[in-house]
Amino acid sequence: MAIMNIRTIPDEILRKVCEPVKEIGRQEKKLFDDMVETMIQKGGVGLAASQVGESCQIFVVGLENEFYKIANPKIVEFFGTEVMQEGCLSVPEVVRDMERFYGVIIKGLNENGEQVEMKATGFLARIFQHEIDHLNGKLIIDYSSQFFRPGNENEERLL
Ligand code: NI
Repeated sequence: MAIMNIRTIPDEILRKVCEPVKEIGRQEKKLFDDMVETMIQKGGVGLAASQVGESCQIFVVGLENEFYKIANPKIVEFFGTEVMQEGCLSVPEVVRDMERFYGVIIKGLNENGEQVEMKATGFLARIFQHEIDHLNGKLIIDYSSQFFRPGNENEERLL
């Protein structure tokens, strides 16, 4: 496994709409594993492929010792909303209030290439939405209103 470099703004790759993955082969499995290792090393709870320079629809999430490796994700249901602070490894020094759906059901492929459907609420649902935004070239600074803060006391919130 390998630690990958995190792309930060204004890197253009962060703005591209990522390509769907055709199948989960050896390359994709290695990318999943490298992304998990990179996410852990950087202290994040989620990471999208475009953040490590791969413009494909893959993301990983690690929250409370549960790891998720998902390709071609789609939100198929959503409910409620919630406002929480959010940061991003690719947008250093910015943390802002973000309104997201409180709950989502997402569909996608797991690391074995199987179709999976997952229901998530709260912070996990938020991370899924944040990573899916990345795969569409969208960042937290694209939403209205933001504030800047010094230091990294919220590092565990970097997605
Ligand atoms: Ni992010």
